[in-house]
Amino acid sequence: MFKKLTRRRSLYLGLGALTALGTFAGNGELKRQRIFAAYDPQRDFSVVGGDSLKKRAASKGIIYGAAIRHDHLKEDAKLAAAVANECGILVPEWAFKWSVSQKPLRPNPDSFDFSAADEMLKFANTHGMLFRGHTLVWHESLPKWFGDRVNQQNAKQILEKHIKTVVGRYAGKIHSWDVVNEAIEPVDGRSDGLRKTPWLELLGTDYIDYSFRLAAAADPDAMLVYNDYGLDYDTRKHEAKRTAVLKLLEGLKSRGTPIHALGIQAHLDGEATDFNPTKLREFLRNVANLGLKIMITELDVTDKKLPLDTTVRDHIIAKAYEDYLNVVLEETAVIAVLTWGLSDKYTWLSEFQPRADKAQVRPLLLDAGMNRKLAWNAIARAFDKSLRKNRS
Ligand code: XIL
Repeated sequence: MFKKLTRRRSLYLGLGALTALGTFAGNGELKRQRIFAAYDPQRDFSVVGGDSLKKRAASKGIIYGAAIRHDHLKEDAKLAAAVANECGILVPEWAFKWSVSQKPLRPNPDSFDFSAADEMLKFANTHGMLFRGHTLVWHESLPKWFGDRVNQQNAKQILEKHIKTVVGRYAGKIHSWDVVNEAIEPVDGRSDGLRKTPWLELLGTDYIDYSFRLAAAADPDAMLVYNDYGLDYDTRKHEAKRTAVLKLLEGLKSRGTPIHALGIQAHLDGEATDFNPTKLREFLRNVANLGLKIMITELDVTDKKLPLDTTVRDHIIAKAYEDYLNVVLEETAVIAVLTWGLSDKYTWLSEFQPRADKAQVRPLLLDAGMNRKLAWNAIARAFDKSLRKNRS
């Protein structure tokens, strides 16, 4: 069964691991080998002391935090305590989107419901956390009324009203805004790499510059971020995205558009084998050379196709976190790391990347009981190992 493994790799595996991997009925030999390559039971994930992630990060001049849903924060005291303990920055997973769930920010073209965002800001203030906004301009989470009411005649006005009202209301209280989210999609076939979105169709290519200028006017102190995914791996798709994002950023900078940082979502894949530190470092350097900061904005690691055994799964996930952060934190332009959620109890991946065996997904740092997992250790280790000094 394992005959294609090298002797060294076979030696890495204890009996327990063999049993765990044996639960892979139906998967091919190649896949099993890839998992073996990622699973090293000898790998050390130990950490010194019990300090929180925010403290470890801050001692290196880095901000650590997470995206959390307002309803979860309100209803789950254990989650709230963990957020207050671990996070130096908070971002609402839903509250600033035009429309998600029963409590949209934009219930109709004329009104705004800030109650969820306000609750989260209050929580952040109470616990001495920074607060960030996600996101002003995105092709998803648009309300139903958008399609009926927005047209080429009024689109500019509606965008202007949205950004002025939302950014203006929180001016001085926000660390950073994801002004535009996911505007690049080379697969859409345009030579500029722009995604074909309603905003592009309504306003033309200028909509990105325009949004940043509006945000800067409404809050001159907030860090303004362009945020995107699919930038992490050594694949043709990710390479094309990196190239197009860089081109977009260069264009924005050359026109004097007020943009201050790139947000790299970093939704990682525990199964991925095409992580290339050299290419990632080079991309980060290119972004930094434009005079931009970098934030890792939505870090998590999907375990959709990993073995069921939680020991094996948690090791592979922890490795993905630590290997990625070790590379990313070498770049001094990287100022913050945020995970998209904190506990496996609440993660978008249980809906968006569920496992075929229906087992609970484990992509985050804390388990469903809010206990620290190996992934927590991995992130703590990356902060501890970072050679950066506190620059604040
Ligand atoms: C996701 C949320 O986590 C889900 O709850 C929501 O229904 C859809 O959006 N990239 C982003 C985030 O920029 O806004 C997405 O969040 C995850 C991918």
